[in-house]
Order: sequence, then C-alpha cells, then structure tokens
Amino acid sequence: MSGRRVRLGVLVSGSGSNLQALLDACAREDFPAEVACVVSNMPGAYALERACAAGVPAVVVDHKAHASKVEFEAALLEALRAAGVEWVCLAGFMRLLSADFLGRFTGKVLNVHPSLLPSFPGLHAQRQALERGVKVAGCTVHFVDAGTDTGPIIGQAAVPVLPDDDEKSLSARILVEEHRLYPLAVRLAVTGQVALDGMRTRVTAVATAGELSLRSPGAVK
Ligand code: GAR
Repeated sequence: MSGRRVRLGVLVSGSGSNLQALLDACAREDFPAEVACVVSNMPGAYALERACAAGVPAVVVDHKAHASKVEFEAALLEALRAAGVEWVCLAGFMRLLSADFLGRFTGKVLNVHPSLLPSFPGLHAQRQALERGVKVAGCTVHFVDAGTDTGPIIGQAAVPVLPDDDEKSLSARILVEEHRLYPLAVRLAVTGQVALDGMRTRVTAVATAGELSLRSPGAVK
C-alpha cells in the first residue's frame, strides 16, 4: 500500500488470538495500519510471544507493580507514546481504562467483546450467554468509552448457540468471528470510514457496510 500506515498500540492480557488476527491483517500490503507496539498488563501472556514472532516490540506494564491506577495508566501511556502510537486496540485486555486515559486518544480506542452488546458486558460474556439460554451469541467491535463495554458499536457478528455447547466450544465459535470482524472494523475506523453519530456509528464504506452487520447464524437443528 502506498502512503503512511496508522500506528496501532495493541493492549493484551492473555492468549492474544485477536492480536494475531491484527498482526496478520497488518502483514497485508494493502492494510492501512501497522502494529507499532504490544503492551501486556500480564507478565508471561502468550500474546507477548506472538508479538515477538512478528518482530513487533512488546512490553509488560504490570498493573500489580504500580501503586495506583493513575500510576499504571501513566506507565501505559508512556509505553504507547514512546512507540508513536496513534490508535489503541484492546485485544482481550482485562483492565478498565479511565476517562483521563481515554482522553489522550479521543475517539481512537477500539475493543472487541465476545457478546452481542449491550447484552452480557463485563467478564465471562460467553458464560453469561449460556446461563441465560440465548440461542444466538456473537461478538461486537466498538469504540471504547469509560463504561464497561458501552461505547458506540461499529460491527457485530452472530453465531448459533448449540444445545451441547459449553463455555469452551461457544468461545471458540465466537472467536472465529472476532478474528474476521476486528481487522475489518480497524481498517474502516482508521481510514475514517466509520463516523460517530452520538451513541451510533455510520459506516460510509458502502461496499463493506454489510460485513459489519449481523451475520446469519444459519439453521439450528
Ligand atoms: C476474546 O474473546 C475477547 O473478545 C475477550 O477476551 C478474549 C481474548 O482472547 N475480551 C473481553 O472479554 C473484553 N471484555 P485473545 O487473547 O485470544 O484475543
């Protein structure tokens, strides 16, 4: 791709399969962004190995090593600033960010969550879905605000919940859609093809608008 690529900072806490989806997307010549750094709040997170394998700088900013949330976020900001990060992608990052932190990247922080928000925000979204007996589950990519998984929604994808599902099987089915949806939403957001409109977003890329909508979960027997 000709032209400058937007510099992403990806925040992780665990396995990093969504980080991998973003790294794979960024490896494509026509993708408008690159991963400038990966920051994990968990030492030993597998996501750090994925970053290393892709030749991307990775650092640990351990929340437990900081006396307060203010100090933790200051260290986080410093790591992102040092890498020249312009947009922040949360990819399985399990800490809530303050309004102060978000104010440093206004309208430029994205998250992927394993439910069809606004249902089942917070921890263990897939378990919540199974406990409520929903027949359709899925994932959401949204702009981040200071609430828990409450920001304006960019795109969603649905999957069926099957009678024998447990948390593991449902999570795996949802992850497939996360890996498809997140890079697509990042591409549209960083290129200004998603416009914020209050609590809603408008996708101006006509060709791809459909891909950000609910996908048919297919026939469930
Ligand atoms: C993903 O399912 C992601 O949606 C979820 O954590 C998992 C991380 O997997 N995030 C949240 O629940 C945030 N509220 P990964 O580390 O393999 O990308």
